[in-house]
Amino acid sequence: MNAPRRVGDIQTPALVIDAAALEHNLTTMANARPGGRLRPHVKAHKSTALARLQLAHGHRSFCAATPREILGLAAAGFTEDLLLANECIDPQRLRALAQLDTDVMIALDSEATIDAASAAGIRAALIDVNVGLPRCGCDPNNAGRLADVARDRGIAIRGVMGYEGHVVGVADRTTRSEQCRNSMELLAQAHALVGGEIISAGGTGTFDISALPTEIQAGSYALMDSTYAQLDTPFRQALFVATTVVSSNSKFAVADCGLKSLGMDHGNPEIANKTVWFCSDEHTTFSRPEPVGTRLLVTPAHVDPTAAYHELYYIAEGANPDAAVIDEIAIDLRGW
Ligand SMILES: Cc1ncc(COP(=O)(O)O)c(C=O)c1O
Repeated sequence: MNAPRRVGDIQTPALVIDAAALEHNLTTMANARPGGRLRPHVKAHKSTALARLQLAHGHRSFCAATPREILGLAAAGFTEDLLLANECIDPQRLRALAQLDTDVMIALDSEATIDAASAAGIRAALIDVNVGLPRCGCDPNNAGRLADVARDRGIAIRGVMGYEGHVVGVADRTTRSEQCRNSMELLAQAHALVGGEIISAGGTGTFDISALPTEIQAGSYALMDSTYAQLDTPFRQALFVATTVVSSNSKFAVADCGLKSLGMDHGNPEIANKTVWFCSDEHTTFSRPEPVGTRLLVTPAHVDPTAAYHELYYIAEGANPDAAVIDEIAIDLRGW
C-alpha cells in the first residue's frame, strides 16, 4: 500500500498524532520544567522517535517502565541517565541492563530487589518509596535502611523516587495539590534518611504542584487522553485513533476500533459530537450515526495502553480526515 497522504486515507484503526498539538505540549512542558527538571516517561508513547523530540526540547534523562524500553532507548543512542522506574527481579533482564554501556538506574523497594540487582551487577539505583499509591515502593521509614543495605552491596544510591499515581488524576486542583503535598512530605522524610541528589516524582497532573522533586516523571503530557483532558492542565489532545464507520442505521453507527485498539481501563473513548455507547473487541458503537465509510477520529481515554496496541503513529497536520500525513514513526519500545 502507498503511504497515506491524508488522515482519511489511513487504513483503520490506526494512531494519528496532531503535530501542532504535540509540539505545543512538548514546548509547554519544556518551558515549565526545562532540561533535567523533567525526566520524560517513555511508557506513555513507547517510541524512540518521540523520545528524540523530547531530547530536542532539552530533556536528556529518561524514565521507563520496562527493561525493554530501557534497552530500546540505549540501542537508539540514549546513553545518558536512564531510569527503570519500576521493580524488576528477572536476572536475565537485569543483567542485560547492567551490561549496557549506559548510565542506568533502577528502582529498589525491598531486600529482594536489592539482592536481584546486586547479583546482576546493577551499579546505581533510587530507593522507591510508597507515597500513598498501593503499588510499588517501601515504607518511608524503611528507606534509609534499604539504602544502607544497597550501598553495602556496592550499589550507588542516587536518591529516592515516589509516584503519587493516586493523586495525578484528581480533577479538583485544590484537592490534588493537598494530596500531592501529603505524598511529597512522605517522600521528603524518606529522602532525609536516604540522601542523594535525586528526588524523582510526579506525573502530568502534578508536574507544576510541588517544589520538592528535583525531576518530574511525566509521560502522558506529550500525547494526552480524554481522562487527563478533564483536568486543568495546559496540554492539548494530540493523539487520536483514526477509525471508519462500518455499519450504520437510524439509531446508531459502529466504528472499526474497539478494545483491541484502545486502552479502556479509564472508560470509553470520546468522539466529538457523538455519544459513545460501548466498545467491544473490534467495534465502538455510538449514537448520532454517520453513514458507512465516514472517517472519524476517536480520543482514547488512556494514552499508555492505547499506544501499546499499535505499531506506528501517523503524524498529521491537524486532527481531521483532510489533514495531510507528514510522517510515520515506529512505536518501537513495545514489549517487556
Ligand atoms: C512510576 C511512574 N512515574 C510517572 C508516571 C507519570 O505518568 P503520567 O504522565 O501519565 O501522569 C507514571 C504513570 O503511570 C508512573 O507509573
